[in-house]
Amino acid sequence: MLTVAVLISGTGSNLRALLDAAAEPEFPARVVVVGADREAEGFAHAEEYGIPTFMVPFAQFASREEWGAELGAQLDVWRPDLVVLSGLMRLLPADLVDAWSPRIINTHPAYLPEFPGAHGVRDALAADVAQTGASVIIVDNGVDSGPILAQERVPVLPGDDEHALHERIKPVERRLLIDVVRRVATGDLDLAAVSASAQL
Ligand code: GRF
Repeated sequence: MLTVAVLISGTGSNLRALLDAAAEPEFPARVVVVGADREAEGFAHAEEYGIPTFMVPFAQFASREEWGAELGAQLDVWRPDLVVLSGLMRLLPADLVDAWSPRIINTHPAYLPEFPGAHGVRDALAADVAQTGASVIIVDNGVDSGPILAQERVPVLPGDDEHALHERIKPVERRLLIDVVRRVATGDLDLAAVSASAQL
């Protein structure tokens, strides 16, 4: 049974989808802890499932590195097989990424390498493209630049604002994320092999 830690900052709708999937008896992974860099709304989903949570408030640390060190210490308590960033709106310091990659993945609401960064949905709208997408990647030390594990196109429709487009993207993100976690858990997806081949 693959153990998963999920890190969030916001509403945690992608977290909720993973929790719902993991509640199915045949799903080969379970979420053991949910962490956040702030008092995230998404904690409510973890509490509903009786899953422990931790908070490492970014604002209480003098540097990203010190924040990352505490975040890493929390993760070390739980020793998950996989860390999932799902709406964590912070870049992780290199020490933390190096300690966990490739067993750390991220969901992003764009068709990477298009529109990386914190405003992928807004940037796609501003670019007036006909389609954007959703991606699941291995976290590396760049900004949404790690090896792509899964991605799918999502149309941009006339009249879309950022919220409407993001809400169309999120269900795709959730489906891709659940499928990636399932494939990692069953061994169908070898993160170390993907990461190594990306470095060739
Ligand atoms: C998701 O689209 C995620 O990819 C992005 O922020 C959104 C988080 O949504 N980083 P939620 O908190 O899971 O609802």
